[in-house]
Amino acid sequence: MDLGLRGKNVLITGSTQGIGRRVANLFAEEGANVAICSRSPESVNKAIKEIQVLADGKITGAPCNIKKKEEYEDWIDAMAEELGGVDVFIPNVSAGGGADSEKNWWKNFEIDVLGTVRGVEKVIPHMEERGGGAITMISTTAAVETFMMPQAYNSMKAALITYAKQLSQEQGDKNIRVNSISPGPIFFDGGAWDMIKTSNQKFYEKTEKTHALGRLGTPEEVAKCIVFLSSAAASWVTGVNFVVDGGYTKRVQF
Ligand SMILES: NC(=O)c1ccc[n+]([C@@H]2O[C@H](COP(=O)([O-])OP(=O)(O)OC[C@H]3O[C@@H](n4cnc5c(N)ncnc54)[C@H](OP(=O)(O)O)[C@@H]3O)[C@@H](O)[C@H]2O)c1
Repeated sequence: MDLGLRGKNVLITGSTQGIGRRVANLFAEEGANVAICSRSPESVNKAIKEIQVLADGKITGAPCNIKKKEEYEDWIDAMAEELGGVDVFIPNVSAGGGADSEKNWWKNFEIDVLGTVRGVEKVIPHMEERGGGAITMISTTAAVETFMMPQAYNSMKAALITYAKQLSQEQGDKNIRVNSISPGPIFFDGGAWDMIKTSNQKFYEKTEKTHALGRLGTPEEVAKCIVFLSSAAASWVTGVNFVVDGGYTKRVQF
């Protein structure tokens, strides 16, 4: 199956490690032109060099803290100019989980929600110029079923699912598809679940067993679904929330 990504211009935030990085790798392998960012110039430069080895297309990037509105908007415009437009946008950065306090609510609102909304509002005019595009927002299974505790992360990620659906209705006539993806717990070295494995082994093992497939997922398994949803191969898919979790959630998804 041809994903039709060769020559497409893809912007991914928070893409030097974890899921975002695997998404960048895969788009590059599919022949897309890819722009990455993180807050660390060293990590961005290192990742660009490593991704270039996999790529036929142009790989670029720049340090950017998506929390800073102007810096973020400038990053989008600079990347769009360098690549010659935007076809795909993956707002991937999250403030992560944390105990339920006002600080966490602001942090998750600012990074997860506004970080997505600001990016979307900035990329849509670029996509209109290209005659369409695809936006894939990153939510989590913690938004669709109860998880751990009443924390801002779960609720703010749930907001993205509703936002993606409503945006998909508004943007359809411009040929812009909007979807969200909800990964379950994903393990990789240095990631959140690596830390949980060390700090709370009992909870980690219980989580493993809760999966129908008996294990946590990998960033590559999530990245493949993100890349598919964002590609022409999913041209008739818009407004969905794609749960990718190895059978971790238990509800029937009508
Ligand atoms: N891991 C999981 O189990 C899991 C499960 C469900 C959903 N998700 C979602 O998947 C997405 C990726 O998660 P992940 O675990 O792969 O993340 P991660 O390993 O923590 O990677 C985050 C990336 O974002 C960058 N970043 C962090 N804050 C930033 C900011 N303010 N501005 C720009 N870049 C920033 C980081 O680099 P710097 O620190 O150098 O800036 C890094 O490249 C998130 O939206 C998360 O909620 C993850």
